[in-house]
Amino acid sequence: MSKTDHIPYGRQQIDQKDIDAVVNTLTADFLTQGPKVAEFEKAFAAYVGAEYAVAVSNATAGLHLANIALGLKKGDRIITSPITFAATANSARYCGAEVWFADIDSDTYLLSLESTKALIESKPRGFFKGIIPVDFAGLPVNMEAFRYLADKHNLWIIEDACHAPGGYFIDSKGKKQRCGNGSYADLGVFSFHPVKHIACGEGGMITTNSKQLYKKLLTLRTHGITKEAMSENHGGWFYEMQELGFNYRLTDIQSAIGITQLAKNAAGVLRRNEIASAYKKAFRGKIKFQELPNGSYNAHHLFVIEVEKRKELYDYLRTHNIYTQIHYIPVHTLPYYNAIGYKEAGLSNSENYYSKCISLPMFPSLRDEEQMFVIEKVLMYTK
Ligand SMILES: Cc1ncc(COP(=O)(O)O)c(C=O)c1O
Repeated sequence: MSKTDHIPYGRQQIDQKDIDAVVNTLTADFLTQGPKVAEFEKAFAAYVGAEYAVAVSNATAGLHLANIALGLKKGDRIITSPITFAATANSARYCGAEVWFADIDSDTYLLSLESTKALIESKPRGFFKGIIPVDFAGLPVNMEAFRYLADKHNLWIIEDACHAPGGYFIDSKGKKQRCGNGSYADLGVFSFHPVKHIACGEGGMITTNSKQLYKKLLTLRTHGITKEAMSENHGGWFYEMQELGFNYRLTDIQSAIGITQLAKNAAGVLRRNEIASAYKKAFRGKIKFQELPNGSYNAHHLFVIEVEKRKELYDYLRTHNIYTQIHYIPVHTLPYYNAIGYKEAGLSNSENYYSKCISLPMFPSLRDEEQMFVIEKVLMYTK
């Protein structure tokens, strides 16, 4: 068994390097707005292969700023997947925009390109402003295909890459495209909540290749304030608040652990893929799991299977101290979204998926014997 008396579905991995990094920051000159933030941003941008990265207090804040930076306003409309955490959709609601849901693909569980295309084409040109595809469970969306669709209809793209640092797909030119690298999406957003790959406690990162968006995000992250004055500069202290921004900053303490966590991510993703391979070997031909499109590399935040008696399996595994989770209750069925009119969205793949999905333990420090125990119990129940 693990440190706790149960096997969770996800767990952070903290070592002495992480602890030292945080402790050293506590006695440094800056607890926030210091050099660790820029160091983390630089390292993260290099890791995903984007030009720029902006650290934020969490991914929800990052998604919110991303929507604002791309000009989303009250009454505008965006499209996203119902199989995501509510924050993806909520971020557009914060701007007063309407959220429209397209269905998922029933093999990859990602936002379906065909369903998104059909939704866009069912409305007049200009009806939608953007698309927010989600690299669900760590599986990269084929962003090249979404870019083609978006360009045809003059839409922007925010890649919700919260599950996928280290994942990539191969584009039509045979090039590896890492999640959040900004080659096709305008902005990418990552989360550093402890169940994700990189644990900062709370934290997030926005990535982009656009200098203009980068500068806007930096200003929005800190109240809309900049030292680049539009009017006469009164002196060294001078700043201007040029628009209504937020305090969505990440601290140096969080950035310090972000740096040490990031350094371990490649190894963590490798281990996650080893765990996924062992699950697939045990379940192939018996239990449905997320398909991996040709050439894609899944960062495996999650390992999801589909079973008929999902609730019974969930309860059964609990009796054996295996704590699974369900990702996700379709966003359009949540009471808040119901109340604003999403009762019958006709998203049958998403609703069918939700009735069967269950996420099994998936984290780098999951021991082989623990995984064997999980596999044995799942197979015992589903045979
Ligand atoms: C797909 C997705 N988007 C956004 C978020 C929000 O991330 P955060 O908790 O860092 O705000 C999460 C977190 O669970 C997520 O899974």
